[in-house]
Amino acid sequence: MKPFKIRDIQIDPPLILSPMAGVTDYTFRRLIKRRGGVGLVVSEFISVEGLTRNNPKSKRQMRFDEEERPFAVQIFGGQAPRMAMGAEMAEEVGADILDVNCGCPAPKVVKNGGGSGLLRDLPRLEEILKEIKKSITIPLTLKVRTGYTDSSINVVDVAKMAEQCGVEHIQVHGRTREQGYKGRANWDLIRQVKEAVSIPVSGNGDLTTIDYALERWREAGTDGILIGRGAMQNPWIFRQIGDVLAGREPYQPDTEEKKDVLLEFFGMCREEMPEIVALGKMKQLAGQFTKGLPGGAQFRQTLYHSHSADEILDNITIYFEDLRTGRRYGDGLVEAETEEIDSCDAFVSPGTQGAVPMQAGVR
Ligand SMILES: Cc1cc2nc3c(=O)[nH]c(=O)nc-3n(C[C@H](O)[C@H](O)[C@H](O)COP(=O)(O)O)c2cc1C
Repeated sequence: MKPFKIRDIQIDPPLILSPMAGVTDYTFRRLIKRRGGVGLVVSEFISVEGLTRNNPKSKRQMRFDEEERPFAVQIFGGQAPRMAMGAEMAEEVGADILDVNCGCPAPKVVKNGGGSGLLRDLPRLEEILKEIKKSITIPLTLKVRTGYTDSSINVVDVAKMAEQCGVEHIQVHGRTREQGYKGRANWDLIRQVKEAVSIPVSGNGDLTTIDYALERWREAGTDGILIGRGAMQNPWIFRQIGDVLAGREPYQPDTEEKKDVLLEFFGMCREEMPEIVALGKMKQLAGQFTKGLPGGAQFRQTLYHSHSADEILDNITIYFEDLRTGRRYGDGLVEAETEEIDSCDAFVSPGTQGAVPMQAGVR
């Protein structure tokens, strides 16, 4: 595992927390960064319409802490002048890298020419990249899907064009917009991008276990990888991948540490946001975090129906105590997995095209 550089910024280790609207906010990013093994974190996608119209929500989304560096701000939009203004604002707040979202499949974003909509309008994408390059001095990077539809896969051309425009790192989620989150990410296309350009390339899609991540990474030969949903299920995944690559046993947190991470997260959320939003965030993380654990489905049901911080804290304590002692949590009647977390759709509000805060339970 070799670190790589985006201009003079060392990405070490070359493992990136993938941006997720409604998830990778200031709180979640620090939670993950503190677990170790992460070389770069990225904001949620931020609407340049919101930013340049002084939407406080969009501005808040650019907030970060020194402990997060290197830190990238990701923006989305379809109008070059506004994208350039948004990029300047990100540089002004001190971001190390400016990332352009060219992958979001949400209809509201695509309709306005942004996100994955840019994959079917390369002249517009080119104009945006060139305008941004003129307005910032920090490195510009791009996060793309492989194409707009399954029959118009053009990620290699997009990557070549981006390189020409001065983009300094390409991150490829190996799915088309049409695919949404269905099927598997195509890591062969990611390999093709890596072979076609000379700037660093990182691959992304479905890396939720150490073995699968290492296999895909090796096959594609990319400089780095991004992990999104896998980090919610296992905040230690970055550290564990680093361990295995260094020939060590992967770090295994015990149940006490798992409980502490949830409590740390809840504590951070309560400092940052209104109680109701903190409760929603907590349900979101706990829902992903306990996937596959004994009694996890029952625990999630209980959490979703909890309405106060005390109730949540009590249930967490009981659940992890049951896990530790091998007792089954609850009455054992709920076994089915219900909630799937997917896409950025839910976070685009109609008026502003801006990401809205997470509410209870993600769909
Ligand atoms: C809830 C959610 C929100 C997302 N929001 C963004 C986003 O704001 N910007 C972005 O580039 N990708 C976003 N994505 C896509 C992820 O960054 C990543 O490309 C995708 O989930 C595949 O990687 P994974 O299998 O490791 O999760 C989002 C994904 C999810 C599940």
